Amino acid sequence: MLAGCKEEPAAVRVPGGDVQQGLRLVTQYQCGACHTIPGVQGAAGEQAPALDHIGRLSYIAGGIPNQPANMVQWLRVPHAVKPGTEMPPMGLTEQEARHMAAFLYTLR
Ligand code: HEC
Repeated sequence: MLAGCKEEPAAVRVPGGDVQQGLRLVTQYQCGACHTIPGVQGAAGEQAPALDHIGRLSYIAGGIPNQPANMVQWLRVPHAVKPGTEMPPMGLTEQEARHMAAFLYTLR
């Protein structure tokens, strides 16, 4: 139905990432201490960019192409992606970062 009409491109899929688990992990790791994140309880931080449209940005952290592999890497080791960044490494496993990325890409 409505194929070809002005539909939004489908949300980016992250291989091995589960949206619900991502939501749980983002809550658990308290990313919301720094970021405002829709749908995450208590996530109203203001010292970092709000993540409310992160799924539709072309670039993250001011110049890194917003693709799943880059996002996963960013979440795990931000300083490896952007030396000197103020986002701290949160000690995530690759799998945890995949789940989180899957969730973040639903924020559009
Ligand atoms: C101590 C504060 C802090 C915490 C905790 C934190 N971040 Fe960040 N985050 C930042 C800062 C500061 C930036 C901007 C970094 C830059 O551009 O160099 C950022 C950038 C980002 C970006 C890119 C945003 C954009 O608009 O380009 C994403 C995505 C992100 N963080 C996700 C997360 C997730 C998910 C968590 C939890 C695992 C988290 N952050 C925890 C401070 C934090």
